Amino acid sequence: MDYKIDLKTELGSLQLESPVMTASGTCGFGRELTDFYELNELGGLIVKGITVDPREGNPTPRIAETAAGLINSIGLENPGLDGFIKEELPFLKSVNTKVLVNISGHSLDDFKKLAAGLAKQEGIGGIEVNVSCPNIKGGGLAFGTDPELVFKITDLVRKEYNGFVMVKLTPNVSNIIPVAKSAAEGGADALAVANTLPGMKIDIESQSPVLATGSGGLSGPAIKPVALRLVYEIVKHDILPVLGLGGIMTADDAIEYLLAGARAVGVGTATLIDPYAPIRIKTGIAEYLNKNNFENLQEIIGLAHKKGANL
Ligand SMILES: Cc1cc2nc3c(=O)[nH]c(=O)nc-3n(C[C@H](O)[C@H](O)[C@H](O)COP(=O)(O)O)c2cc1C
Repeated sequence: MDYKIDLKTELGSLQLESPVMTASGTCGFGRELTDFYELNELGGLIVKGITVDPREGNPTPRIAETAAGLINSIGLENPGLDGFIKEELPFLKSVNTKVLVNISGHSLDDFKKLAAGLAKQEGIGGIEVNVSCPNIKGGGLAFGTDPELVFKITDLVRKEYNGFVMVKLTPNVSNIIPVAKSAAEGGADALAVANTLPGMKIDIESQSPVLATGSGGLSGPAIKPVALRLVYEIVKHDILPVLGLGGIMTADDAIEYLLAGARAVGVGTATLIDPYAPIRIKTGIAEYLNKNNFENLQEIIGLAHKKGANL
């Protein structure tokens, strides 16, 4: 880029040098990406989801390709809270971009422990709370579909953790607004919209489901229109600042989310195909702003609401 465009943005209290972050679970703990570029090129790094105890993840196969995306059932393979602090955090502390730690739990107590454990650590820009995993005690439904549970989880995390808290919502609800409002009432600073949609694939030769777990989370281009609409709707209701994600493969995809009112974007599946995707997308956003005579990123955030439908 030989022109200067101000790409700075903020998600509530989180100041970002540029709007493109990596989505959780698609760039490990960041080390993998250092072979390709300096991590400070990213607006932020959202690392793989951690749980209280280490997890081996689900049996394979646990990734399947579809016509317009991926279905994964990784099962939150991770080193656990202590393993993360010992093995991954020292490296992440040296990274010069905002690092958000994604946390998952199967009970309210899990979320409390994770937030309390991370509160004692330095070098973390904030927590991303993944409310999309199954709540075993509640009968296997994702926490994120129940506004009451989303409130309780957010409130617990908020009480344990002083820093930036972003709640990551599941798109698998008939109405996202009560869930988004619950996260706000629980004290979240921002929302990440959205996680994967449940999906499955069947192998017609063996007549059996492809993934060992039967079904998994659909990501990639197939989910973009769904997540984009959710972002637009939440922004319309002016609930909390939003990180938009779901199927962002190109700068044009990211620009759609920004026009819908997302203050920053996350790139997931695209990073698995092309590790440079977040950088390519960042550059493409700057080119779009330049080409259309905008001086800074802020000018396009939410612009579609001025011209668009009242959802
Ligand atoms: C392989 C894989 C692993 C993922 N792991 C996590 C995770 O640990 N925690 C989480 O909140 N989301 C996880 N996600 C969801 C992504 O962060 C993202 O919300 C979703 O894939 C939609 O974005 P995309 O279409 O750009 O991939 C994962 C997605 C993929 C494809």
